Amino acid sequence: MGKISIYNVQDTPIGRGSIGQVYPGTDPQGNKVAIKEILDRHVTEYLSDPHRSRHFHGCIHDGIHMLNQHPFIAKTYASFEERDRLYLVMEYIEGETVEQYVKRRGAIPESEAIHLILDILSALNYAHSKGYLHRDIKPGNIMIRPDGSPCLLDFCIARYIADISRGISDSDISWITPGAVNYMSPEQASGLNTDNRSDIYSLGCVLFYMLAGQHPIQKQSDDYATRVSIIYNICNSDFPKVRDFNPNLSQHIQQILDRATARDMTKRFRSCAEFETELSGVIHKQDETGWWKEVYQKLKQYINNIIKK
Ligand SMILES: Nc1ncnc2c1ncn2[C@@H]1O[C@H](COP(=O)(O)OP(=O)(O)OP(=O)(O)O)[C@@H](O)[C@H]1O
Ligand SMILES: [Mg+2]
Repeated sequence: MGKISIYNVQDTPIGRGSIGQVYPGTDPQGNKVAIKEILDRHVTEYLSDPHRSRHFHGCIHDGIHMLNQHPFIAKTYASFEERDRLYLVMEYIEGETVEQYVKRRGAIPESEAIHLILDILSALNYAHSKGYLHRDIKPGNIMIRPDGSPCLLDFCIARYIADISRGISDSDISWITPGAVNYMSPEQASGLNTDNRSDIYSLGCVLFYMLAGQHPIQKQSDDYATRVSIIYNICNSDFPKVRDFNPNLSQHIQQILDRATARDMTKRFRSCAEFETELSGVIHKQDETGWWKEVYQKLKQYINNIIKK
């Protein structure tokens, strides 16, 4: 692809999303970066107004200042327009997305999934405390680095751009936004106000995906009719039970998922900290059970040895 602004960009994208693609590149110091090119024509049109463009880049800049501090949030370095397209320059994250990880390996063991979600909750808690919602939490927006730690991608960006694309900023409210809709909270899917509990719902869906190895609401295709039917399901159908997919899971984790993904947002965890406390409880219980199991095994071995003698 050559040079865009001050960045060298490779020809082959790392991946494609609904409104653009992401390329590997390098900054002038030779550091690896990921460059997202937004191809959506509504976005280009919207940003052709200098006032809106200034506002947009200002918001991205504020987000950079606030969110680049957290180790589990991918850093955004810059945003600019060139060749009539919008570009976002981000930290290049090695590894694979949760979606790729689960597709390759199947369901993730309970304690590994819980540790990943606990790390993401600490990132979300931090962002919420600074007044930022993610609004597009899904397996494709979380990467797992080679050391096993997670990293949240597209903070604020994805839905902001989607909002522009669907024309919400011009009061032309159509329900259907670009991007995946199957991890949207019921209030988001119905166009109502969102808050930190909407991110909690979507993260609950990600926990479900990790433990079940399947999306809670399947996305057969990306066409308009499918998206409308997914939105209908989110707002009207009961959320699936993870233990129907993986009966070995504890009742405790099922109760936590029931709370995180409650359709009525007043029944959800009120904060990431509350979600975190409940999830940590599962790990502590497992540690205790693990300790007792170990003692029991050792005792059994000891008694067997005595009997043999
Ligand atoms: N900062 C990054 N570092 C490394 N790879 C990335 C980075 N950002 C995105 N990717 C890769 O690019 C792919 C496409 O990302 P993109 O955000 O364009 O689409 P998406 O989030 O999967 O979908 P959508 O646009 O529909 O929300 C991702 O699945 C991931 O593999
Ligand atoms: Mg993304």
